[in-house]
Parts: sequence; C-alpha cells; structure tokens
Amino acid sequence: MHANGAKQTIVMAEEFNIIEGTKTEQYEALLPQLRALVNGEADLIANMANISAVLKTQFDFFWVGFYLVRMNELVLGPFQGPVACTRISKGKGVCGTAWERAETLLVPNVDTFPGHIACNAQSKSEIVIPVLKQDEVIAVLDVDSEYVDHFDDTDTKYLEQVVHLL
Ligand code: SME
Repeated sequence: MHANGAKQTIVMAEEFNIIEGTKTEQYEALLPQLRALVNGEADLIANMANISAVLKTQFDFFWVGFYLVRMNELVLGPFQGPVACTRISKGKGVCGTAWERAETLLVPNVDTFPGHIACNAQSKSEIVIPVLKQDEVIAVLDVDSEYVDHFDDTDTKYLEQVVHLL
C-alpha cells in the first residue's frame, strides 16, 4: 500500500523465470511479462533497461540493447553484454541503416553486410529493430549473436512486438 492507500502493482525482477519451449513459445510467454513490466513504468530508459535484461536472461543473446537518437546520432543506451561503440551516425552500420530506413534489418552474417560496425569481433549475426514514436525513429533495439544465421522471421515478428511495448 502507498501512504495514500492506493494499491501498487510491482512486477519484481525476481519473478521472471526462464521459459522453456520452442522459440515461439518462449516469445509468447515472454510478451505478457514484458508488457506488465513496461506498463508499470513510464520512463523509457528504465523500460529499455529491463527489456534488455529480460531478453538477455531468456535467450542469452551475446549482446542486446538500445541506441537512442540524440542530436541526429545514435548514442548507446541501456544494454546487456560486452562494452560497445557509443555513437553511430545515420546510415552507418546495421543500426544506422535500420534507423535511416526506419525498418527492421536482419543480417545473417555480419561479414557480408557492407559497413557493418564490429564493436566486438565475436558478433556474427545481428538484428536491428527501429523504435518508432509518431512515425519518427527515436531509438533502435540491436541484438547480436556469436553464431552466424542465428535470427529468423520469428525473432523479427516478436522483437517488433517487444519494441511496440515502449
Ligand atoms: N554492429 C552494429 C553496431 C552496434 S554493436 O553491434 C553493439 C552496427 O553495425 O550497427
């Protein structure tokens, strides 16, 4: 109870358990939990931080996190994984290209993507999903894998739903 008597619903991080099943089943079970987390908090950065943590915990992605559009540049935001590049220009790398095109980019093998920015040599495949507000890209969600060809249409479908929660 709050001091004013209002009941407060808090989804605690400890309540998140790893989900078993196919990738579709995992995403299907994850979405309502993420929705509950995000609906209880208005702050964008806090929500991006928890989304990164949940995706890292569930899927053990090599790197998962957000870059935010700041002064016509992408600037590193909340993430889970190794230290990463802090700034990316529009149209540069996978992130900057997804931002410029305002569309999801799935790169099965980063070595074949011209201009890929290798923040970490262990990253082999990547998916980047733009976060849109009123038709403007305000951020991107970037997920990297240490395996070639790690992402598919299922990841595209559900990660797009994940960023819609923001
Ligand atoms: N590889 C990305 C840069 C970000 S890191 O992977 C975290 C790119 O080409 O935009």
